[in-house]
Amino acid sequence: MIDAQVITIDGPSGSGKGTLAQLVAEDLGWHLLDSGALYRIVGAMCVRREVAFAAVDEVAELAGALQISFAEGCVTVDGLDLTDEIRTEDAGEHASKVAQHPQVRDAVMMLQRSFRSPPGLVADGRDMGTVVFPEAKLKIFLDASPEERAQRRYKQLKNKGLSVSLRGLLEQIKERDARDRGRAVAPLKPAADALVIDSTSMSIDGVFEQVMSEARARGLV
Ligand code: DC
Repeated sequence: MIDAQVITIDGPSGSGKGTLAQLVAEDLGWHLLDSGALYRIVGAMCVRREVAFAAVDEVAELAGALQISFAEGCVTVDGLDLTDEIRTEDAGEHASKVAQHPQVRDAVMMLQRSFRSPPGLVADGRDMGTVVFPEAKLKIFLDASPEERAQRRYKQLKNKGLSVSLRGLLEQIKERDARDRGRAVAPLKPAADALVIDSTSMSIDGVFEQVMSEARARGLV
């Protein structure tokens, strides 16, 4: 048994789970797993190597052989810097497509579990609490309305100087939600023992405080 506790934070895109996971990990001094980044990497490498997202066996083989490093804010894959490439809206879309295949999820599973090491791990994604770390002592499912999530993303992209359509983002979010929630394997849903937080009208600080007080109540801090 590994001597490292796990806190899982699952939820749809734009719910704020990535920011929350970062804040919690920093505060506790624990490791961080951004599992969405792994699926984004697989999608990006499929594009680079011209592997069709639907070519399940090839995608799974590619996923299992990648040499990935997350260091000092940079994502390096097989010697290539993919830090910015995996953060685009297209990369999220591609990730959601490759993530539908059970074989690809299996290939990514071992890698995800290898992030668990002392003193602890905060893991964010879609199936962290249901499939990858079902034994986690604290499971959060962070949700928000699609409209609020589209607004947040819109502001982020605007701040980066990118011109985007709010309506287009909302459509993309709804489409991605439907694919992530509707897939046969490891669909996006709260674990039976998850604490569900609707962040639609909450600040990230408010959500952070609620999660930390829950972590204290469960003896994790
Ligand atoms: O969290 P994100 O937006 O970076 O995730 C991108 C896509 O990857 C998401 O739409 C579905 C997939 N994903 C998944 O299937 N399981 C995870 N644990 C994390 C992400």
